[in-house]
Amino acid sequence: MARIVTTFDLPEEARELLRPLGPIAGPEGWRAALVDAEALLCLLTDRVDADLLDRAPRLRVVANAVVGYEHVDVAACRTRGIAVTNTPDVLTDATADLAFALILSVLRGLPSAERSLRAGAFHGWGFWDYLGADPGGRTLGIYGMGRIGQAVARRAAPFGMRVIYHSRTRLPAEDETALGAEWVDFDGLIARSDVLSLHAPLTPQTRHVISANVLRRMRPGAFLVNTARGALVDEAALADALRDGHLAGAGLDVYEHEPRIHPGLLDLPNAVLLPHVGSATRETRTRMALLAARNAHAVLSGRPPLTPVP
Ligand code: DGY
Repeated sequence: MARIVTTFDLPEEARELLRPLGPIAGPEGWRAALVDAEALLCLLTDRVDADLLDRAPRLRVVANAVVGYEHVDVAACRTRGIAVTNTPDVLTDATADLAFALILSVLRGLPSAERSLRAGAFHGWGFWDYLGADPGGRTLGIYGMGRIGQAVARRAAPFGMRVIYHSRTRLPAEDETALGAEWVDFDGLIARSDVLSLHAPLTPQTRHVISANVLRRMRPGAFLVNTARGALVDEAALADALRDGHLAGAGLDVYEHEPRIHPGLLDLPNAVLLPHVGSATRETRTRMALLAARNAHAVLSGRPPLTPVP
């Protein structure tokens, strides 16, 4: 008899919060435990669809412990009166830090320099060796100017980058001024960015928004960084653009069919590939789990959730 089911290991603070509300089951055997569950704490690797909801007739809240929620059938939850929550804010800085780390890594070619050293190809300091590109004076284009996009823009100014952005909703003028960011239309963003960094959610409208055609319209020698969702990008077309040198490099933390990486990307020296670690710091993951637990706690206690999905 579990009132609360979790698909992942909860930190002790989260368990302490939830324990007084009833038994907690999972992650072992969490699917079977759904039959009695009133709260489900889950992750982006858990598909919460109508079939799963049918096994959980008493469910009142899906407390999703990440910010993206494309893996949750929100409409099916709403029809059944189930609240759906996510974890905005608490992972903004960690994800923006990682995006900026990727921007610097691709500009300076750090992973390939490191690989070369490990392969024994470093024969001493060389004036023209291992040359990268300066961030200063380059234009950073941000696609999707929500919390994470804005946090990336704040990191760019001290590095002397010009920031342009395109977003569904334009920021108020005072925010643009504070961030030093100029709004441009989508075509302007693609044509002007030296580094294009993606921060939009995955929706039917944004799937493959960075298509073969868009990649061809990017500046020759530009860089692409994606820490949002893999399916924003046509990965086969990206691999082609990197291979033929139209793009100078890409930094990717996310992939369309995780954990599978498009084979065309794997052997490219100018692609920096990370295993979806944007929010992976101990502090941030603990905050995400705790916020999910607080959301579940609120709903089970008859209060509105803290961070329902929009
Ligand atoms: C999210 O929260 O959606 C991230 O991709 C996990 O870091």
